[in-house]
Amino acid sequence: MTRHFLVDTDLSPTEQAEVLALAVKLKKAPYSKSTFASDGAGRKTVAVIFDKTSTRTRVSFATGVADLGGNPLIINPGESQIGHKESVADTAKVLERMVSAIVWRTYSQAGLQEMAANSKVPVINALSDDYHPCQLLADLLTIQEHKGTLAGLTMTYMGDAANNMANSYLLAGATAGMHVRITGPAGYLPAASVVARAQERAQLTGGSVLVTSDAAAAARGADVLVTDTWVSMGQEQEKAQRLETFRDFALDEAALALADPAAVVLHCLPAYRGYEIAAAVIDGPQSVVWDEAENRLHAQKALMVWLVEKSDAEAAAGST
Ligand code: CP
Ligand code: NVA
Repeated sequence: MTRHFLVDTDLSPTEQAEVLALAVKLKKAPYSKSTFASDGAGRKTVAVIFDKTSTRTRVSFATGVADLGGNPLIINPGESQIGHKESVADTAKVLERMVSAIVWRTYSQAGLQEMAANSKVPVINALSDDYHPCQLLADLLTIQEHKGTLAGLTMTYMGDAANNMANSYLLAGATAGMHVRITGPAGYLPAASVVARAQERAQLTGGSVLVTSDAAAAARGADVLVTDTWVSMGQEQEKAQRLETFRDFALDEAALALADPAAVVLHCLPAYRGYEIAAAVIDGPQSVVWDEAENRLHAQKALMVWLVEKSDAEAAAGST
């Protein structure tokens, strides 16, 4: 059975820990796995498709596939037939015959599900309107590096609590056994269905979930403080209204002062200083955002290796 990574909960708690452990190994020995290098002269290709713009995701997947001995095929917005001239299902049926994995940054989660349903090779969500699970693997790796553990830590996300990052913090944090607090204004909180899924995970792992519009209560005593842009890709028309709506939910010096004195600060980037995060915070001593950005590379290499090896092993077991 082919394994895909479309949402954070596609990895069980044990599997998430396996991927993070492999990321630690690959960070120490970047060329120790040659997953996409063939025995002979050839190299396997990974298609990395963008319907939205990107810096980190593009560079980390391109570099990561090359590190693993493969050939990254980057397809930029507007360069393929997907969605406008050809269905997602037909695209999947073509790609699965030529590439070893499909990485896709797009708008609709349903589109990713359709791609996966029609693909024999792993499909990876490189950001959708609903989730950014690759970013969370990098964030968890970073937190683990700086705090020594994940389970039992309190992680507070503040700002646009209805966006892809908020959803992924809930699901991936609960999977890791963290106490996840999400704070944003009324009307911009996570959907009840996402909160319920996070709560199910938290029950398995000993974590917990809190959703509140009381930003100070959410920040108080936190081990990890995180935020994200108030204007996600595709929301540019709402910019003026959004900058007003979220202004009491900024990760500023006052919020940081409420957190545990040893708290670390993360931001997936790109960041807008003076809006969702104060310059003094993101450029200050508690910020680990550059480690976080680098860890996209290591975490995604581990994810690709894990998915391909797991899919191959399950296919081999199924054919005996
Ligand atoms: N954090 C992140 O996904 O960055 P890019 O949009 O630059 O890929
Ligand atoms: N929420 C942001 C994340 C960018 C990495 C967006 O979707 O634009």
